[in-house]
Amino acid sequence: MKRLPIIAGNWKMNTLRPEASRLALAVAREAREITSQVEVVLCPPFTGLDSVSESLKGSQVLLGAQDSHWKAEGACTGEVSVPMLKEIGVSWVIVGHSERRRGLGESEAMIHQKLMGVLQGGLRAILCVGETLEERKRAQTWQVIERQLATAFEGVEPLAAAKQVVAYEPVWAIGTGQNATPAQAQEVHAQIRQWLSKRFSPSCATALRLQYGGSAKPDNAEELLRLPDVDGLLVGGASLQAESFLSMLQSAVKAKGGCACSTEPS
Ligand code: PGA
Repeated sequence: MKRLPIIAGNWKMNTLRPEASRLALAVAREAREITSQVEVVLCPPFTGLDSVSESLKGSQVLLGAQDSHWKAEGACTGEVSVPMLKEIGVSWVIVGHSERRRGLGESEAMIHQKLMGVLQGGLRAILCVGETLEERKRAQTWQVIERQLATAFEGVEPLAAAKQVVAYEPVWAIGTGQNATPAQAQEVHAQIRQWLSKRFSPSCATALRLQYGGSAKPDNAEELLRLPDVDGLLVGGASLQAESFLSMLQSAVKAKGGCACSTEPS
């Protein structure tokens, strides 16, 4: 089974609404020809979701959110729930980004609850995992990632898991300009796929798409996307310019060859 490549732009805390609309319109217009060959997701900040949702009307480019709360509603000041995101047209939610894990103290238990909230609410998750430089130096990369995966996916059924995305984002590569080498990325992606096969099933491991994230840019996109277990990219900085993001979409088409792919488990 060939997996449909998926490229997501994580705009982080960037773009005021007019800029967000302009960027989304430019991506939607230029990506029109290729959205059957690559799934494209834009994740603006919460305040840009409605304007980007408008800008994406009539296009196949999907809307993503950068976070969500696990509860559907309630006394959670400052939080945004999955039903609220759904109402505005969101399809994907980033869960467990390292900037939230490390910068904001989001625990693995919270990330598990958030993943469950996304699944129960009928949206799809881009679950981020990855090690710090210290952890890599101590040869703990896989130990850390395995724990992050096991905790996040606790109690999840194989069919539900297969529809999500796992993004391997080494913390030391995010926003640093220093991406993982293709060998480093492929090694971890292959380990994640093996883990998925054991934890869920071989068909889940074959269907679930794995993104690489961390200083992915036009210069390295094609090389990374040519790796057998890299099915897409989670792009921060390079997604803030339409031109560089679009060039990475083209890299996905080139590297993955364009095909009738499936996003569903067989
Ligand atoms: P970067 O960010 O591409 O700017 O390194 C990636 C991410 O944090 O998702």
